[in-house]
Amino acid sequence: MSKNKKLIIANWKMNPESLAEAKKIFLGIKKVAGKLLNVQTVVCPPFIFLEEIASLYKGHRIAIGAQDVFEKNTGSFTGMISPNMLKKNGVDYVILGHSERRALGESDEYINNKVRISLKTGLKVILCVGEKERDNQGQYFIFIKNQILNSLEGITKSFLNNLSIAYEPVWAISNNSKNKAMSSDQIYEMIIFIKKVLTDKFGVKTKMPQILYGGSVNPKNTKEILKEGGVDGLLIGRAGLDIKKFSEILNIANN
Ligand code: PGA
Repeated sequence: MSKNKKLIIANWKMNPESLAEAKKIFLGIKKVAGKLLNVQTVVCPPFIFLEEIASLYKGHRIAIGAQDVFEKNTGSFTGMISPNMLKKNGVDYVILGHSERRALGESDEYINNKVRISLKTGLKVILCVGEKERDNQGQYFIFIKNQILNSLEGITKSFLNNLSIAYEPVWAISNNSKNKAMSSDQIYEMIIFIKKVLTDKFGVKTKMPQILYGGSVNPKNTKEILKEGGVDGLLIGRAGLDIKKFSEILNIANN
């Protein structure tokens, strides 16, 4: 994917409830996303719909992603889905380390295992990082740095092409109606910091992963976040289930 294409990802989380609804939303998104030259759209439905949704589109402008994966490709692990299963069934991307999974107990170490095996299996990884709250001393910078370095332990430069990092401050994610997106200057500051962490780890000459923002993105704030926030793309929750809103976001990103 060209570096200049914006990466716009819809994370459907535990929605919708039926395949019929999932298809309807995907086909609505496809009408717009399938035409855009400057956007790589990724739709991440729940596991149970992945294969069917993947079969509805054959081009490159839309890709299918999973919301998580297990840390092993073989063995007896009841209830788990392996990176190979995703790869062989039309899935190209996987979201790892989302704060909602971290809240269920996933550690950086566990996420690192999943990042490693997913990249080795040939999946593109969207690694999520984000602080739960902000303090006046700027400790959250150290927190983000540690999350990134721990989650990328053992990852070599050769895999960076298949990695993107989604910065999602937990307090800006819309699990309650009070949450609001972060301001674009705060986003910009963090994006610069994340780039510095990556440059220190991988060297200045390395092509950097794409850096995305997520947390209460909607059609009203998309333009400003993309322009002033200095991000290469967006990770979108609620608005990614709304054909109209998501299409608007895609069109804004395309222009
Ligand atoms: P939101 O979710 O867009 O609904 O805030 C973002 C996310 O959890 O990735």
